[in-house]
Amino acid sequence: MRTYKIAAIGADGIGPEVIAAGLQVLEVLQQRESGFKLEVEQFPWGSDYYHRHGVMMAEDGLDKLKGCDAIYFGAVGDKSIPDHITLWGLRLRICQGFDQYANVRPARILPGITSPLRDRTGDDLDWIIVRENSEGEYSGNGGRVHRGLPEEVATETSVFTRTGVTRIIRYAFELARKRPRKHLTVVTKSNAQRHGMVMWDEIAAEVGQGFPDITVDKELVDAMTTRMVLKPGSIDVVVATNLHADILSDLAVALAGSIGIGPTANLNPERRFPSMFEPIHGSAFDITGKGIANPLGTFWTGAMMLEHLGEADAAARLMHAIERVTAAGTCFTPDLGGTGTTKGVTEAVCDALRSGNV
Ligand code: IPM
Ligand code: MG
Repeated sequence: MRTYKIAAIGADGIGPEVIAAGLQVLEVLQQRESGFKLEVEQFPWGSDYYHRHGVMMAEDGLDKLKGCDAIYFGAVGDKSIPDHITLWGLRLRICQGFDQYANVRPARILPGITSPLRDRTGDDLDWIIVRENSEGEYSGNGGRVHRGLPEEVATETSVFTRTGVTRIIRYAFELARKRPRKHLTVVTKSNAQRHGMVMWDEIAAEVGQGFPDITVDKELVDAMTTRMVLKPGSIDVVVATNLHADILSDLAVALAGSIGIGPTANLNPERRFPSMFEPIHGSAFDITGKGIANPLGTFWTGAMMLEHLGEADAAARLMHAIERVTAAGTCFTPDLGGTGTTKGVTEAVCDALRSGNV
C-alpha cells in the first residue's frame, strides 16, 4: 500500500468547509481505488489561531509540515486582521519557506459549465497559467519612511533573479512539452518595464533553445487580457511574473465559468520540500458558514495533488467524476447560477465515484 502523509489546513472563511468536502471525496476515492492511502493530519492554523496565539501558525509550523508529502490548503484572510498579516503569516510563509516557486493554475471550461464567453467550450479554453511564486513584485522588498507626513515615501521594488526567472520558464517549457499542443506564451511588460522584464524576454529566448519542439510566442500583459477574451483558442501554457499571473489567473478562471472551480498547485518541483494545493478562490466572507461554497475548485485541487503524488489514475478518475457532475448540470452552487449546496455537490461527486463507471 502506497501511503502519503497529507497536512490539511482549512484556515479561514470557507476554507475549512471546502477542505472538509475535499477530504470526504478523497476518502471515497481511496476506497474505490485501493493501492494507496492518505494519512491526513489537520492543523488548526489561521485567523482564529492568531486571535488566540498572536501568530497565524505555530512557530515551528514549517518543521511540523516538513515531513508531509503534500499540503491541502483552504483559504486565508479574515475581516478582523489586516490581509498582509494573515497572508504573510501563513500562506506566504509556507510558499516561501518551502520554495514553492511554481504556482500552477489550470483553467478549462468543464462540460456543462457556461463560460461568459459566448459559445465557448473546453475545446476553446484549456489553459495552464504558470505563475512565478517566489519573487518578482511580491518579494516583500521595500519600505516606508516619514510615515504619516506629507513627504512619506513607500517603495515596493520588484526582484527578478536570473535563477528565479530561469527555473520558472524552464518549468513552463517542460509543462508545455507534456501537453498535446506544445505551445507556450511568455507574458511580460518589457516595453514599459525595461530592466526585469527585458531580462525575462532574454532568458525565455535562451531557455527556449533547449525546447525546439515547443512553439513559443510573446505577449505584453495588457494585450494578453484581450487575447484571452477574444482568441482563447490561441493559448495553451502561459508563463508570467507573480503579479501578472496573479491577475491573469483570476481572469482565466472567471472566463472558464467561475472562480469557485479553479485549482492551484504551489510546487517545489525538485521535491526538496512538500508542495501545497489550494483552490484559487479566497476565504469569501460573504458566504462563509452558509453551506453554499463551491467545493469543485478544492476537488480539482485534490486531483492535482494526487497527480503530484504520482497517483495519475486516481487523479484522472476524480476529474471524470467532477466532469460527470458538471455535465449533468443538476447540482450547481450559486456561483454557477444554481441553488445547490456544498454538501449536495460533494455527495454528487462521491456518488459518481462510487457508481463505478468513472
Ligand atoms: C492568489 C491570491 C493571493 C495572491 C492573495 C490572497 C494575496 O490572490 O492566490 O492569487 O495573490 O497570492
Ligand atoms: Mg490572486
